[in-house]
Amino acid sequence: MGDWSPSSWQQRPAKQQASYPSAEALNEVLRQLSLLPPLVTSWEIEALKSQLAAAARGEAFLLQGGDCAENFGDCTSEIVTNKLKILLQMSLVLLHGLNKKVIRVGRIAGQYAKPRSDDTETRGGLTLPSYRGDLVNGPDFTAAERVPDPVRLLRGYGRAAMTLNFIRALSDCGFADLHHPENWDLDFVKHAALADEYHRVVDSLAKSLRFMETLGGTSNTELNRVQFFTSHEGLHLHYEQALTRRVPNRSGYYNLSTHLPWIGYRTAETDGAHIEYFRGIQNPVGVKVGAGMSDDWLQELVERLNPHNEPGKLILIHRFGASNISEHLPRLINAVQRTEKEVLWISDPMHGNTETTTSGYKTRDFANILSELEQAFDIHKELGSILGGVHFELTGDDVTECIGGARGLDAAGLERAYKTQVDPRLNYEQALEMAMAIVGKADR
Ligand code: PEP
Ligand code: CO
Repeated sequence: MGDWSPSSWQQRPAKQQASYPSAEALNEVLRQLSLLPPLVTSWEIEALKSQLAAAARGEAFLLQGGDCAENFGDCTSEIVTNKLKILLQMSLVLLHGLNKKVIRVGRIAGQYAKPRSDDTETRGGLTLPSYRGDLVNGPDFTAAERVPDPVRLLRGYGRAAMTLNFIRALSDCGFADLHHPENWDLDFVKHAALADEYHRVVDSLAKSLRFMETLGGTSNTELNRVQFFTSHEGLHLHYEQALTRRVPNRSGYYNLSTHLPWIGYRTAETDGAHIEYFRGIQNPVGVKVGAGMSDDWLQELVERLNPHNEPGKLILIHRFGASNISEHLPRLINAVQRTEKEVLWISDPMHGNTETTTSGYKTRDFANILSELEQAFDIHKELGSILGGVHFELTGDDVTECIGGARGLDAAGLERAYKTQVDPRLNYEQALEMAMAIVGKADR
């Protein structure tokens, strides 16, 4: 495999990379990025790793969620707060129902680069580069927007820093105080059954909290703040490299752009540039696992990404689709068991369940998402393995992108608030309903 360095990936074939018109302009931006301060610290990264190790043992549960793709325009107080609120609400439901510590990780503060099926898009005889996320180019179908612009890397770093700054402030003060979950209520909670159930959970938690504090005689200041981690797909390797640094008093290199970078399904070839980059960093890393992966391929990934069998280091995020999971998950669990290495398995029930409606909307059916998740719990249990978390595309806003759920959103209803530029997300109510369903399933 040879020696690793933050740039050794450049000797390998790199898929899904932007093609910049000027190498000089790109290099200048990368030079500037490499001088800017990190967004996260190695202490936080190591703390997350040890919590993930607990999740792999079944002692904690990972809740990872957020947008398919963040837009620079979504860096607003309302959108960030709503996303934090829904993740906090889901985590309360899970904490209460599973009786385990919940590790909260947002697809947030850096989820700006997207893999695409085609390098180009043609409309009315005009062919332009595909939109690859705001980190690379703009979504509008004009040459000016679609040509990759390296200055966007600096803007992405800036947006990530602003988002993270706001999240840190909110997590550390009154907003995140477990004694005041009313701060997390969203204006548009309309579905009475869900809202009632959620408020029952909150009341019961408040009671236990008061009981503990009465017993202990003091207020539990630990609960006045929450821990919140960030993650994004580590797709744009030049960007990731520029934020990969050594830190004092620890060995190795850390990717300090996010706590938990993951490798997308389309860039997970064992000999590709992404695996080369990811094998050398100290962060916990995720890799998407799908139906097209052979047993050998997955075993090789486990070997390369966690050669020393470090606890909490490797997360396998499986995404098959409700009708494929029963065929592929058991063989892949067996394959990993044969390596005798520890991994954290989590389910992404979104990406294998994408469909297109007759009117052309990319959507996902709540029932299929839930079915994949329920099957995942059952299959892991049957094979003596542990499903230690979930990975959702969701938003705290009142969008209409996925069909189904308690409100019975149908294909015709998608029109009202279909906002995503990439994949369809669970809206606030659907996300909360999903958290309640997980508790129901894990209980049985
Ligand atoms: C994603 O998580 O948005 C994504 C592109 O998923 P996958 O790599 O699993 O296709
Ligand atoms: Co997606």
